[in-house]
Formats: sequence, C-alpha cells, structure tokens
Amino acid sequence: MIVDAHGRRFRNLRISLTAACNYACTYCVPDGKRLQAAQAELSADEMGYAVRLLIEAAGIEKVRITGGEPLLSPKFDTLLPVIMQLPLDDVSITTNGQLVPRKSALIINAGVRRINVSLDTLDADRFRLIARSGDLATVLLGIEQLLAAGIKVKINMVPMRTENVDQILPMLDYCFERGIELRFIELMNMGHLKVSNQYAQDFFGMDEILERIGERHEFTRTDAPYDSTAVRYEVPDQGFFGIIANESEPFCSSCTRLRLSSNGRLYGCLSSATSYDMREVLTLPKHQALARLQRLLVLSLAEKQSVSFKGEVTVMKFIGG
Ligand code: 5AD
Repeated sequence: MIVDAHGRRFRNLRISLTAACNYACTYCVPDGKRLQAAQAELSADEMGYAVRLLIEAAGIEKVRITGGEPLLSPKFDTLLPVIMQLPLDDVSITTNGQLVPRKSALIINAGVRRINVSLDTLDADRFRLIARSGDLATVLLGIEQLLAAGIKVKINMVPMRTENVDQILPMLDYCFERGIELRFIELMNMGHLKVSNQYAQDFFGMDEILERIGERHEFTRTDAPYDSTAVRYEVPDQGFFGIIANESEPFCSSCTRLRLSSNGRLYGCLSSATSYDMREVLTLPKHQALARLQRLLVLSLAEKQSVSFKGEVTVMKFIGG
C-alpha cells in the first residue's frame, strides 16, 4: 500500500460517471454559459474495471458515485449493480435528486444504503435561480421516496451570502423533521469563482453558519471519525448537522480521497489540476495493469496538499464532487 509522509493513503474513491449535468448551478457554471460535457468518457465496463483495479492496487474501501449528475448517465443503470457486488465497505451516491423519482426502484433494488442529495434552498423560485434548471418539488419527492425505502439521506447545502443564507434555518428544520443530516459545504474557490469576485462576495464560513444556527438552536460539537471531512454538531433532541469547512478547518492532512474523472483521469487532490490518465492501464490484463497503476497512484498521492485547500481553476463537475 502506498502511504505518504502524513500517513495518508487512498481509501475512498469517488467516480464521476459523467461530466454532464442537468443543472447549471451558479457556483459551478459561469454566468449564462453551460459547460460542455467532457468528451471521450469511459464506458461502464472500463469504469467497472478501473474500480476493481483500484480496490486492489490502492486499497480502496469505499466508493462514491458522483458526477456531473450521475443519474443522467446511461452507465448508472449498468454500473451500479456491478459496483454493489464488489468487495467494498460502503457504496454511496451523490446526486442533485432531479432524476431520483425515475431511478428510485433501481437504486432501492440495488441495495444502496446511503445517498447525498445536493439542495441549496427550499424556495422554488430561488431554486431555479441557483440551479438555473430543474424543479424543487421533484427533488423533494425523490427524497421522500428514498427515506420511505429506509435509505439514509444526507443533504449538501452550499451557503452563499447573496443567495441562500436565509435558508439555513428552514433547511435545518426540514432535515430535523425527517431525520436527515444536513451538511453545509463552505464555498470552494474553484472554476470560474477563482477568477472572479464571486467567491469573496458569497463565501459564508463556519463561524457565520454557526452564529446563524445559534439564533435558534443550542448545539454541541461531536467527535467526528478521523478521515471524515465534516465537523459534526448535535442539537439535543433534534438531530445532527455537519459543516464541511474546507476553508475554516481544512482536513487535508487526513484526506484519503482519490477521484476518477469520467474521462479516465486520476486526481489525488481537489485542489490540484494535475491528473494522471488511466486509460492505457485499462487496456492491459490485470497483473500488468496493477503494476502500471502503482506509479500513477504514487504520483496522484503526491498531489495532495499538506495543510489546506488552495483552490483551483478546475471545475467540480469534471473532477467529480
Ligand atoms: N463549493 C462548494 N461546494 C460545491 N459543490 C460544487 N461546487 C462547489 C463549490 N465551488 C458541491 C455540490 C455538491 C457537492 C458534491 O459539491 O453542491 O453537493
């Protein structure tokens, strides 16, 4: 197993099924411009082989299926049951929820236990302003279907000063009522944010989030497991919430994530544009592929930041959120 000077190794793999997305969220896609889907994406078979190789070569224990919007990809239907059969401790999905009502039977039958839904507001008009597409009621219906099937749902919300911070308390109430853990993701300085003033204008950090929640609730900080990105809080008798505080409390030194983009590139760090192409490895039989993969993994691990997230012009939906 490859381990770096911080004792980090890859345990968690995030695979981006497709760079395509049915939303164009303000923090991901620059004004008015829809990003093209990445060309030459891996097939479902190639992705399945990549995951099998990475389990052996890197010691991957958990896989998250993400995107772009993973449910948009035809690969999702074939790959999900394949990945569910692999020797992994956990398989989860991150989705914007828009297609959940159409795919819920498939997800439930495949035996998925955990899903993260990205949702930034409970106001239908605001929803369309942020996502620039989609329909809030459809997402909420999908969430109810997942909960009814006993799937553990978490919601990811990105608080932005000029767009949705008034939604922090209503979102928390909605989640407490349903036993959902809400996780606030501090805005990351990625993609077009890195080259505009939108990040400075909209960043709403951990202290301010806690201050806002403190207006209504008492909370205590809990011990999050090593390797968890979220700082977790408990509101007695109500539930838990988390903050993914990339900026305020960076977790780089215990990060175990590896990302495989939809076009077959390995990223060792969300804050680095350097990636390594796995395509050639995927044409080789297993023993040769494993040997070649070692080098790519050493290089990918070396991309991890030692202390904090620096921000990068790379776009989340290409790397996989
Ligand atoms: N900053 C913070 N979160 C982001 N996401 C996408 N782009 C950004 C950004 N620049 C979120 C999505 C999704 C999660 C995987 O990452 O909303 O919930």
